[in-house]
Amino acid sequence: MGRAKVTLDRDYTIGEVDDRLYGGFAEHLGRHIYEGIYEPDHPTADEDGFRRDVIDLVRGLRMSVIRYPGGNFVSGYDWEDGVGPRSARPRRLDLAWRVTETNQFGTDEFVRWCTRVGAEPMLAVNLGTRGPDAARDLVEYCNHPAGSALSELRRQNGSPAPHGVKLWCLGNEMDGPWQMGAKTADEYGRIACEAAKLMKWVDPSIELVACGSSGRGMSGFGAWEMTVLDHTFDHVEYLSIHTYLGNPEGDTAGYLAKPDEMDQFIEEVVACCDAVAAKRRSRKRIMLSFDEWNVWFHTDQQIPEPWAVAPAQLQDVYNVEDALCVGGMLISLLNHCDRVKIGCLAQIVNVIAPIMTQKGGPAWQQTIYHPFAQASCFGRGVALRALVDSDKYDCPVRQGVDSLRMAAVADPQTGEPALFCLNRDLTEPLEVEVTLRAFPKLRLLEHSVLCHEDLKAVNTAEAPQRVAPMAISGATVEEGTLRAALPPASWNVIRLARE
Ligand code: AHR
Repeated sequence: MGRAKVTLDRDYTIGEVDDRLYGGFAEHLGRHIYEGIYEPDHPTADEDGFRRDVIDLVRGLRMSVIRYPGGNFVSGYDWEDGVGPRSARPRRLDLAWRVTETNQFGTDEFVRWCTRVGAEPMLAVNLGTRGPDAARDLVEYCNHPAGSALSELRRQNGSPAPHGVKLWCLGNEMDGPWQMGAKTADEYGRIACEAAKLMKWVDPSIELVACGSSGRGMSGFGAWEMTVLDHTFDHVEYLSIHTYLGNPEGDTAGYLAKPDEMDQFIEEVVACCDAVAAKRRSRKRIMLSFDEWNVWFHTDQQIPEPWAVAPAQLQDVYNVEDALCVGGMLISLLNHCDRVKIGCLAQIVNVIAPIMTQKGGPAWQQTIYHPFAQASCFGRGVALRALVDSDKYDCPVRQGVDSLRMAAVADPQTGEPALFCLNRDLTEPLEVEVTLRAFPKLRLLEHSVLCHEDLKAVNTAEAPQRVAPMAISGATVEEGTLRAALPPASWNVIRLARE
């Protein structure tokens, strides 16, 4: 049995968890939009052709914000193709994923779907093959009330009220050579600055996200962030950050240590943002939009027949250890919520997703659905700075990894905390003792655990609940101390309530 001691003080806080931390990302890619969100022939389809079974599952994730339409896709997208009568919408070659895009689903449908799932839309503009002109047109189409050509076009297309899209991404991963219209940091910084100006002149109430590096491993990482912000600092509120983790090495202990690198990545990007602020003697703080994060490695090599319509792509089937890793990543977001204000799980349906569907058939929850849904439901409020003294383990990628990785969030009104804990010890349970300082008298509400004897177990259409959280007993709260045993290799949510 391993051991960990934790001190939590109600007054010792990291910051408020922004509701937008629990967002998602929907790209025109694979079977995400078609057969995932939109399938007019499906038995559960509503009057707009949206799958109701998928809507219900997305609601269960309580996603606050959803980013659209890409991703790599957006860098070649002409938004005008996706609005107006469906019969007149063109079929186009999507060079990002080498498929044919039918444009049967576009901006208006996306905004309507967001309303159905209870999320705020977040749109990305194409700064790859297009630029400031198309970007400001899309803002006018979406947000201008009436009386201009593009606002009237939206009204004609069935949306009399403005969509009121508040959050906008200035392109996607513009440093990546795989991106259509990839740019150097100076080229991108200039175009992003000019696009930002025009977009805010159309609607000054919008908030903008500039592209950070597409990953920590990019050779230009750091320099890219600072150059882009040198150009855009006065015009944007957020910088994007993207991370995908995986276990191609087949080393589970090392895999579960990888979310620690996400902590480091966030701190490095924050340092870049603040260095640019310091050069300008500015008190403005650029916040982070972690608008792509997830596990992605099972399907790296999945290449479909070229120019197919909505072929199966990036359909990672997630197992138990992937769910634990996703839990570890959520802990990273929570423990940096003072600077990470937006988070988008990439993606939502079928494509590296918590939800899978069959065409004409069922929709079900993948393993990673559960840690996200639990954090999203119980992890709102004020994140606490937990002092953790844990047993450690060594693995090839890192020495001295804490067996316990955790975050805690307290309800600001009641002070009732929820603890999100990962036991990364693969063989031993972890006895955790938490001193609860300055809290009201608390009792245990629930200790829920996600674990399985087979770390490679997955959910399928036939066995959709094989991997799911279950309540366990044994945890106690006595005289301000919580004691709980976390099973080996497990994700735990411990909720406490006032006595
Ligand atoms: O989410 C899949 C892809 O990953 C996105 O299109 C791109 O932005 C990233 O490289």
